[in-house]
Amino acid sequence: MSNFDVLIIGGGPGGYVAAIRAAQLGFKTACIERESTLGGTCLRVGCIPSKALLESSELFREASQSFGRHGIILPEVKLDLAAMLRRKDEVVAQLTKGIDGLLRKNQITRLLGHGRITGPGAVELTAGDRTETFTAKHIIIATGSKVSLLPGVELSGSTIGTSTEALNYEAVPGHLVVIGAGFIGLELGSVWSRLGARVTVVEYLDRILPGMDREIADAAQKVFTQQGITFRLQHRVQSARMEDGQAVVRCEGQEPILADKVLVAVGRNPNTDELGLESIGLSTERGRIPVNAQFATPVPGFYAIGDVIRGPMLAHKAEEEGIAVVEHLAGRVGHVNYDAIPSVGYTHPEVASVGRTEEQLVEAKVAYKKGVFPFRANGRALALGQTEGRVKILADAVTDRILGVHILGPRAGDLIAEAVTAISFHASAEDLFLTSHAHPTLAEALKEAALAVHGRAIHA
Ligand code: NAI
Repeated sequence: MSNFDVLIIGGGPGGYVAAIRAAQLGFKTACIERESTLGGTCLRVGCIPSKALLESSELFREASQSFGRHGIILPEVKLDLAAMLRRKDEVVAQLTKGIDGLLRKNQITRLLGHGRITGPGAVELTAGDRTETFTAKHIIIATGSKVSLLPGVELSGSTIGTSTEALNYEAVPGHLVVIGAGFIGLELGSVWSRLGARVTVVEYLDRILPGMDREIADAAQKVFTQQGITFRLQHRVQSARMEDGQAVVRCEGQEPILADKVLVAVGRNPNTDELGLESIGLSTERGRIPVNAQFATPVPGFYAIGDVIRGPMLAHKAEEEGIAVVEHLAGRVGHVNYDAIPSVGYTHPEVASVGRTEEQLVEAKVAYKKGVFPFRANGRALALGQTEGRVKILADAVTDRILGVHILGPRAGDLIAEAVTAISFHASAEDLFLTSHAHPTLAEALKEAALAVHGRAIHA
């Protein structure tokens, strides 16, 4: 007889959500996590602390630079970085404690330590010098991912470090060099730029935000450049290391760049080593665990979700999969709509997208119509004083079905939810513009972009 019905390795957004749903469905459930706090990278050293700092640093920037435009005159605005970092830690502590409470409420067994598969249905837990083996009918691997490193880049404390260190710099760096213009680089680059650092982003490609719609990514780059961030595109970093006490970043064929801090943000790799996969003969494919549509691996009784399997490494994608896999285990229908997974960068303005990009439609030779509406023509954006950016909607030229929505603008991360719903329900651009949108709201920009698909925007 097994100890548990469902045993989940990893307590991040995929793992703990799967655990809660499994318990709700009546499974005797346990979750193994090696860190003392639950929530994974996202809660501890990713999404949540970075959003706390993004919010604080944006308030600091507004108070220093924009309040005057609203007629609010402050005496000198000062930064108390220690208090800002403390608040971030408090936000994280509150959330992780909340997850502990949810696990208790759902009577999920919390196992603290490193989980390693030792054979069919068996996981060995190591905590310090103690080991214990637990068995379960179903084992779900939800171990997430870790930072990728570049050959030639030598990490050195917080001076040459990753996002974990960049969430905790003790002082604002004079010059921060960010390697990689993905979400992590741009979000944390924005934080320190707003707090006064000179920020240089070095990117191998000829563009920022790979995978996002090009027009929106280029528009975002212009805005970030105006905000003071320097971009060095088409620069392949060959090395970053300490030389005589100084951090130096070297790119192919370029002058060396001197930095006070270097943030390496060139992607993430699935956490599949030290998991004992070999004990059950489960091999990875390009680092990821292969799964079928029900998230079952080729080895009976083992399942995998989140960053360790195919698809974007996003917390909400892992959560969807966590729920879907246990629904399947309960003999119910679990479904993840991979065509409608939003992606959001919490810069200022925010960047958000769902569905296909214009480049993907061109490549797939899909005939499409395009509607674009700028926030400068939206009343609420004007009142907020945040008029940068636009909404872009791509719809099928024949059926009018919405295929992609891409937004650069205020609260884009919240606005994209309407587009996700529209795409999930196979809505047309006409469906969207025939839907009443409250006035004055930022969401009206979506309605106008849908009207623009039909060449009939009212305010542009
Ligand atoms: P990323 O893969 O999004 O971007 C890394 C960038 O580094 C790419 O543009 C790549 O071309 C560049 N690069 C690679 N090698 C280079 C070299 N030698 N020299 C210069 N540039 C080089 O990775 P990132 O930003 O580290 O994010 C990792 C994962 O975490 C992604 O899957 C991302 O979606 C996810 N994430 C999502 C967030 C969100 O949803 N807001 C926030 C943070 C992370």
